[in-house]
Amino acid sequence: PLPPPFQVPLPIPAVLQPVADGRYEITQRETTTEILPGVWTPVWTYDGTFPGPTIESRRGRPVTVTHRNDLQVPTVVHLHGGRTPAESDGYPTDLVLPEGWPVDQQPVHSGHARQMSDPRAVRTSRTRDYTFPLDQRPTMLWYHDHRMDFTAPAIWRGLAGLHFVRDDAEEALGLPSGPRELPLMITDRAFNDDGTFHYPSLDPSLRSTPGVEEPYLAGVLGDVILVNGAPWPVHEAEAARYRLRLLNASNARHYELEAVTEDGRRLDLVQVGADQGLLAAPVTHTSLPIGPAERYDVVIDFAGVPVGGLVRVLNRLGSGRAAEVMAFRIARAASDDSRVPAVLSTDLPAWRREDAVSVREFGFRAGRMGDGHGWLIDGRPFDPARTDVTVGLGDVEVWRLIADVHHPIHLHLTGFRILSRGGREPLPHDAGLKDTVSLRPGESAEIVTRFEGYRGRYLFHCHNAEHEDMGMMANLEVV
Ligand code: C2O
Ligand code: CU
Repeated sequence: PLPPPFQVPLPIPAVLQPVADGRYEITQRETTTEILPGVWTPVWTYDGTFPGPTIESRRGRPVTVTHRNDLQVPTVVHLHGGRTPAESDGYPTDLVLPEGWPVDQQPVHSGHARQMSDPRAVRTSRTRDYTFPLDQRPTMLWYHDHRMDFTAPAIWRGLAGLHFVRDDAEEALGLPSGPRELPLMITDRAFNDDGTFHYPSLDPSLRSTPGVEEPYLAGVLGDVILVNGAPWPVHEAEAARYRLRLLNASNARHYELEAVTEDGRRLDLVQVGADQGLLAAPVTHTSLPIGPAERYDVVIDFAGVPVGGLVRVLNRLGSGRAAEVMAFRIARAASDDSRVPAVLSTDLPAWRREDAVSVREFGFRAGRMGDGHGWLIDGRPFDPARTDVTVGLGDVEVWRLIADVHHPIHLHLTGFRILSRGGREPLPHDAGLKDTVSLRPGESAEIVTRFEGYRGRYLFHCHNAEHEDMGMMANLEVV
């Protein structure tokens, strides 16, 4: 039986302490944790918790994270939204092997017609250093597994955590902070009767055959909504402004969030930031769509809510229990000297369509992969041995992305701005610098970006994690 909503306190992932200046260590290991009250669930974790520990960084101060793999399968770590040199970007065949994994044993991609032809695939060490320069706008990034063909089940089992980049300018704005700034990682999960996560893998060992059972080809949804790993949690709040750092870390579920008081009033969600940091100016929403991997940085004001009152965060796209996310119990009145300035940032890139040296078009559609179902980009499934797009370092490009069904499209290395949707002006929540654009069914969107930072091999892909595992990913070579 599922727990009643709004009973479990909202956990806040612990902040990881460095082992030395700018150096962190994370052990990937299996443990058992109580997610549903009274039920013990085996999880794959970063350092023993789901979500993993949060890393707090300063802009431009490099960080090295040593990951040690004590799981039973190879893993790959990607810092989503990080401007990272290719060797630390977590390419899907750039594996950290577990103890005892035969170096020449690679997954059999039955029906996938692909091979591990990447020499970097062979990595005998069970530890690896990932170095992140973090020379980028402050924002909330997240790290997660990115192993080829097995990303979706690995994230589902728990391999996801948050990583903040901060700077003095953002801190000087006076936005709510300290206990009034809350990271909220939203995921859906399903459970078996024995308490294990239910995920319809063809090979539950996740050692050889990738893929999910036929009814789940469009993506795996769960009937339990977790925030920071707790089911429909409640947070005791003061009657003041809060800054909510929202991430949809679900494999495939889309949400449209709204905050509703007991008398049915929808509180304003004042958006101050997008995937890649602060907006130029706040944008006020009464509901906010969030696709897989997207982040929104939102200020909500509980000042008008009576003490004792409950504010529920609901999902307009969900039915039944999937329509509820979490709640805030307004525990007491409080003074509030936070503010939301009218100007939030002045450093957003001003790339224009006219600056583009190339305009490219990509179709994201269902198709055949080997003898099975695939999700393809321009008719082709992911192949680590093929370069799909070559771009020049420093070039501005416009990309036109076309979808058959919902596809949240993510580019590694670079942020982008959304120029248009369906040939029209972008939507209010498309403001600012993004790294994931959630395409709606049948929609096309144009984005403009500049490939800044590093040369090397990167990726772009659908962040519906099942689509990603079933081929909807491509190589982006920056030269
Ligand atoms: Cu969040 Cu390529 O991933
Ligand atoms: Cu997709």
